[in-house]
Amino acid sequence: MKRTIVAMPGDGIGKVVLPEAIRVLSAAGFEAEYVNGDIGWEFWCSEGNPLPQRTIDLLAEHRIGLFGAITSKPKNKAAEELDPSLRENGYVYYSPIVSMRQHFDLDICIRPCRTFPNNPLNFIRKSADGGFEEPVVDTVVFRQNTQGLYAGVEWTNPPRQVREALDTHPRFAAFRDVPGEDLAVSTRIFTREYCRRIVTAAFEYARQFGYRSVTVCEKPNVIRETSGMMEAEAAAVARDFPDIQLWSTNIDAQMMWLTKNPEDYGVIVAGNMFGDIVSDGFAGLVGGLGFACSANIGRDVAVFEPTHGSAPKYETLAPSIVNPIAMVLSACMMLDHIGEKERADRIRSAITAVIDEGAVRSYDMIKLAGGPDVIARGAATTQQITDAIIAKL
Ligand code: IPM
Ligand code: MG
Repeated sequence: MKRTIVAMPGDGIGKVVLPEAIRVLSAAGFEAEYVNGDIGWEFWCSEGNPLPQRTIDLLAEHRIGLFGAITSKPKNKAAEELDPSLRENGYVYYSPIVSMRQHFDLDICIRPCRTFPNNPLNFIRKSADGGFEEPVVDTVVFRQNTQGLYAGVEWTNPPRQVREALDTHPRFAAFRDVPGEDLAVSTRIFTREYCRRIVTAAFEYARQFGYRSVTVCEKPNVIRETSGMMEAEAAAVARDFPDIQLWSTNIDAQMMWLTKNPEDYGVIVAGNMFGDIVSDGFAGLVGGLGFACSANIGRDVAVFEPTHGSAPKYETLAPSIVNPIAMVLSACMMLDHIGEKERADRIRSAITAVIDEGAVRSYDMIKLAGGPDVIARGAATTQQITDAIIAKL
């Protein structure tokens, strides 16, 4: 039976890289039907909803989505770009990828950050003898994907009942006299069940793929309640995994250790915001967002996406210069998820070979700033990178 995949290119370079990933999937012999899902800025502007109900229906039906990228803008900017006929209708812009994660309860986010041999963008550091060393990074970040600071429970000028509730906390005394319009509150809500789910997913992954440690990366010394709950659940779950060490780091220290000893970290697990931060940090060590893939997995639906943004300034460059590898690696995570791991491994090997050989490289891999001139200066086009991967298959 042929699978149906909901293909959601989104904005900007999402429209460029998603078709490339589909080209690689087909070349690897993966047979599927792709239905287009509308998502992104243009639907915000024209319909007041960047994640239309028809796209939600498609995902509910087919359960597997490939997603490109979206443009997100702050509240006021979004309101300005809304179609004039829709203004005053009370539409509020929310990032559609965040909405999608929440709507389908895609609470487990997996972000592997692995060094490809011979990638000129790999992190290097000075060694004791004055030379350089290139640590091999093999870290997989598990990010709680629906709660915390992303839950969207926030106000400027909170309603009276909220102020009263906050006032029951002795520490709110410091804010008691601040006028409502000068007071902004964003809540960080964790639940035990979801802490447990993300930590369990992290440990199971570590066991399945032979990682020696799981590091919970939070800030329990200051954010005692939410980070504290994540830590407590990690300790509880760890008891069922005596073969795997549980480490704990604070997010700030972890960002410092990124460049000191990144090779020491296997699986990392964190709440939503810290997972967002630490996954970009590790991605930077292995080539940056052009190589950073991710999976958003819920009980029923799963969506796979590169972690890069929509890079609107590159959307219209012809030929395109953006690196499709993050998107292709995300498609591989989709294959892993639906039981096509061998095919995924074959594509990953092809990518590894292309990078290692070094004949076909994106502009950033040859240390150029992005722009229309990079092709003339030796950078490969997006399509050439895809072609090279396909040739290795
Ligand atoms: C990510 C991105 C998103 C996030 C943005 C685009 C809303 O940074 O997937 O990491 O913050 O989750
Ligand atoms: Mg991010």
